[in-house]
Amino acid sequence: MYTIFTLNDYDEAAAFIRARFEKEPTVGLILGSGLSPLAEAIEEAVRIPYSHIPHFPVSTVEGHAGQLVIGQLAGVQVCAMQGRFHFYEGYTPQQITFPVRVMQRLGIKQMIVTNAAGGLNPTFRAGELMLIEDHLNFVGMGGNNPLYGPNIETFGLRFPSMTKAYSPRLRGLLLQVSAELGIPVQRGVYAMVAGPSFETPAEVRFLRTVGADAVGMSTAPEVIVAHHAGMEVMGISSITNVAVDVTDSAADTSHTEVLETGAIIVPRLTQLLMGVLKMGC
Ligand code: HPA
Repeated sequence: MYTIFTLNDYDEAAAFIRARFEKEPTVGLILGSGLSPLAEAIEEAVRIPYSHIPHFPVSTVEGHAGQLVIGQLAGVQVCAMQGRFHFYEGYTPQQITFPVRVMQRLGIKQMIVTNAAGGLNPTFRAGELMLIEDHLNFVGMGGNNPLYGPNIETFGLRFPSMTKAYSPRLRGLLLQVSAELGIPVQRGVYAMVAGPSFETPAEVRFLRTVGADAVGMSTAPEVIVAHHAGMEVMGISSITNVAVDVTDSAADTSHTEVLETGAIIVPRLTQLLMGVLKMGC
């Protein structure tokens, strides 16, 4: 399942967006489930609904507004995706990552990707933040890598390395800001699964065994495409729930819980991101 976009498609979308802002954004921001309110901190914002932009998919899931918000955050010009596209909605990995390449064409050099995730690491609690150090892309490993299909050399190599997909420099910056502001962050490996069903308890135990600290239904495709295209990437998970690892447990996971905990995390996440932006992200 894949879509072929041409360089011209990305450039058409970029030209449409460029005609609507005055100051060039330098940092891209993807807001995950429940994290959309973070875009309200963006000042002098220009808002562009996805449905207006050529070739852009339109997001369908509750908690995802579906627009680009371009403006100032901590004095830095950012381009935020308020709402993202998911594999479980039926989008191909190329559609999911279309906006990332458009941002690259707009000249964006750094990409901050956020998501809601279930905690797998037994030391994690709901409401905590996790700096993503690496990922396990189960969707990609299963044959749905976003770089599947013809390679566009303008973006990057046919066989890009993913050893440093999550920029060591940006990870260092985030840890520094976390210490300075006294906002703790966990660190770990994010596992992407297709969803939309949440994991069974056996799947939760499996994911933990293979080295995942948190699990979610997004992020890996956008990170691969951003890194392939030469951007520096930072990823942060908001641990909205603790994944249930016992069959017939009284505890359960729901989308409502994910959105509600996401909303509680937003002020802390906003402060951290603004700190990173101020430090010259
Ligand atoms: N599993 C998968 N995706 C998620 C979860 C989860 O527990 N929480 C938020 N997104």
